[in-house]
Amino acid sequence: MIPTIEWHGDHVRMIDQRKLPGRTEWFTCRGYRDVIKGIQVMVIRGAPAIGVAAAMGLALGARSIRSKSYAAFMEKFEKIAHEMLLARPTAVNLRWAVERMTRFAENMSELPVKKIQSALRQESEKILAEDIEINRRMGKHGQGLVPKGSTILTHCNAGSLATGGYGTALGVIRAAHENGKKIKVIADETRPWLQGLRLTAFELMEDGIPVSVIADNAAGSLMRQKKIDLVITGADRIAANGDVANKIGTYQVAVLAKTNRIPFYVAAPISTIDYTIKNGDMIPVEERGPEEIYRFGKREIGPSGVSVLNPAFDVTPASYVSAIITEKGIIRPPYKKGIKRYF
Ligand code: MRU
Repeated sequence: MIPTIEWHGDHVRMIDQRKLPGRTEWFTCRGYRDVIKGIQVMVIRGAPAIGVAAAMGLALGARSIRSKSYAAFMEKFEKIAHEMLLARPTAVNLRWAVERMTRFAENMSELPVKKIQSALRQESEKILAEDIEINRRMGKHGQGLVPKGSTILTHCNAGSLATGGYGTALGVIRAAHENGKKIKVIADETRPWLQGLRLTAFELMEDGIPVSVIADNAAGSLMRQKKIDLVITGADRIAANGDVANKIGTYQVAVLAKTNRIPFYVAAPISTIDYTIKNGDMIPVEERGPEEIYRFGKREIGPSGVSVLNPAFDVTPASYVSAIITEKGIIRPPYKKGIKRYF
């Protein structure tokens, strides 16, 4: 498994996911603005990976602050944290990581700034290590839901590349595979950015897990023909009532799954649950540039000047979700009650 993001000497480097699977190239971040850029242009993407990147970005930002007094340091650090928060709007893991790093810095007011700076770097390394561990635990819980010999549909990429490592939805799939369940995966190609075709298929092939890619609009027909036994996706933000924001197209997969009586599972760490919001209508949905739709690679394929709508995420109401798989266990409906236990 190639690492998604890591410290390399005094800088942070990320695998450039825009170039996968064709080329494996590092994107180097020497300052926090490089990290913001990396998140915005999707060098790194996927909710937990964005959280880890934000934490490392803040550690880079902290290091660049020259002030010696704690108060002056914190004033600048909070400005950097605010800039980081605006990098991408939907994945709540970004806010979770920024808040954790800020609280961590707030609790070190007694220490010299130099020590705080190196402690922040260590904290970001801890967040990365914890994320991998959380995914493994999620995999252990979730694989129990996967019947032997089943075919699993997944959407987007909720794999190693979308996290610190191992993955959420793909973590469950990996754990089922490691348990000898002889599963097969169907990956939605996931227009327009093709995370399913480019990243999920790449990761699963590397691990020797059988995978077939389909055009997004083939899922319904395959479900009706009973060629899919269950669906597992990741999430970018889960509201307190269990509504799930995830990559655009997830909602239609969930509706099709319910109509065809197929379980629809969401695998996500507790840090993806935003307990401050009541329901999915309050989740900000990122609108991305039109070129993702009208261009194919570098080629323009739409009529020039065509109007485009490009929401990057959608919200699946909790009533379509059979269970939420977390590192702490499986949450089943009613979600309001199940989620409350963790907050
Ligand atoms: O736009 P992206 O690629 O960042 O969207 C990613 C997704 O929607 C994933 O399914 C989600 O972040 C979960 S990743 C473990």
